[in-house]
Amino acid sequence: MKLQLNIWRQENKDSKGAIKNYKLNEVDEDMSFLEMMDILNEDLIHKGEEPVVFEHDCREGICGTCGMVVDGRPHGKEHGTTVCQLHMRKFNDGDKITIEPFRAKGFPIIRDLAVDRSAYDRIMQAGGFISQNIGSAQDANALPISKNVADLAMDAASCIGCGACAAACPNGSAMLFVSAKASQLNLLPQGQPEKAARARAMVRQMESEGFGGCSNYYECEASCPKNVSVNFIAKLNRDYLCATFKEGT
Ligand code: FES
Repeated sequence: MKLQLNIWRQENKDSKGAIKNYKLNEVDEDMSFLEMMDILNEDLIHKGEEPVVFEHDCREGICGTCGMVVDGRPHGKEHGTTVCQLHMRKFNDGDKITIEPFRAKGFPIIRDLAVDRSAYDRIMQAGGFISQNIGSAQDANALPISKNVADLAMDAASCIGCGACAAACPNGSAMLFVSAKASQLNLLPQGQPEKAARARAMVRQMESEGFGGCSNYYECEASCPKNVSVNFIAKLNRDYLCATFKEGT
């Protein structure tokens, strides 16, 4: 299939970026989106031009490294899919595809489609851990955790930290990420002693990184490649409110 790609090119975080147009004439419908980008880059290198910088690692929808806005949506229009798992059969011959970096105040652009997502690492360093030594793995059923709670904690843990939630949110809020990462620990007995301190530290770190607050647009849930629910945000809001009351007493 033939495609026209309109891609954001930007040399570094301080330079002015712009959309540049490229044409590809032999895209196979079985290629993944990133393989299509590889073909473009081979073409550009062959012509002596700078390849398009984009991030990727596992290419299996696991690591959360890939991320770009395809036709106005983080990871593209395919629901519950990372851009590395998006395939060209979802597009039509002759399509014009616009590709831009994730845009949020907390994600400065490094170059082209690559953004600096180290803010998410710093949020995790602020509270996304358990400090106590919880010993070796327990025997099955030794800890009384109900199936519902275990399932919910696993749903929260499915967040791959890609940043699509913040890129999709009109406020540039990272609350879906923060709430998933706090909830995966707060829901379980091992994580509960530090629940209040964790909620405070992670939310405050998020704010200090320049991410906005949540005002219930739900764009984060709609763009999340792992279908993480906004219910975790409501849960974190409750935890944060309790934590600030405790802090004030
Ligand atoms: S490259 Fe790992 S999730 Fe896309």
